[in-house]
Amino acid sequence: MDGAVVKDFSLKLKEGTAVTVDGRFLVHEEFQYFMLNKPKGVVSATEDKREKTVLELISCEKRRDLFPVGRLDKDTTGLLLITNDGALANRLLAPGKHVNKEYLAWLDRKIDDELAAALKKGFEEGLDIGDEKPTAPAEIELLSENEARVTISEGRYHQVKRMFACFDLKVTDLKRISMGKLKLDEGLAEGEFRRLKDEEIKEITKELSGFTRSEEFYYNGEYI
Ligand code: URA
Repeated sequence: MDGAVVKDFSLKLKEGTAVTVDGRFLVHEEFQYFMLNKPKGVVSATEDKREKTVLELISCEKRRDLFPVGRLDKDTTGLLLITNDGALANRLLAPGKHVNKEYLAWLDRKIDDELAAALKKGFEEGLDIGDEKPTAPAEIELLSENEARVTISEGRYHQVKRMFACFDLKVTDLKRISMGKLKLDEGLAEGEFRRLKDEEIKEITKELSGFTRSEEFYYNGEYI
């Protein structure tokens, strides 16, 4: 520490103190951001008595303040942002912000032209899924006879499944592929994760008006 060799593990450091270990700088990051390709069978929680949680998959990290931004169902796969940045999470999840979430949904039966038109109309106009208010306008694009890309701006409980249920369709598989500007890295197999790149952090914070994170709060260089 400042030229001194420290052997006392209880030593508290002042913010900004430069520390090296074997000649390499140790970096303190206030905020951390990870992208996880969530597999099926794990719950989007920080702790669970019975189920495996998404945080147990972020194996490199020992810090205890990480949490998933929003929830994916236990059987949903795909993009989940994991961070300790509460302010960013609040803004991404705030109902007024309408951050788009894009999903691939596989359905239990074929969609003919008539049903496709009804789905498009219903998703665009809003659907009564049993909540106080109908859903906000959403988009649907058919990718094959039983697969669709869906974009919603809300994050209600089981929302995509409940929207399809209005048409008597069951979602057999659901995968989130983007959240705002953040896209799932297709190079990540299910269960794998990586740190967000600096550009990705900038992109997601940029689209939340009035919210920026100075680069001094994160550093995606080399860590020891
Ligand atoms: N909609 C759902 O039905 N489930 C999810 O996990 C996410 C969106």
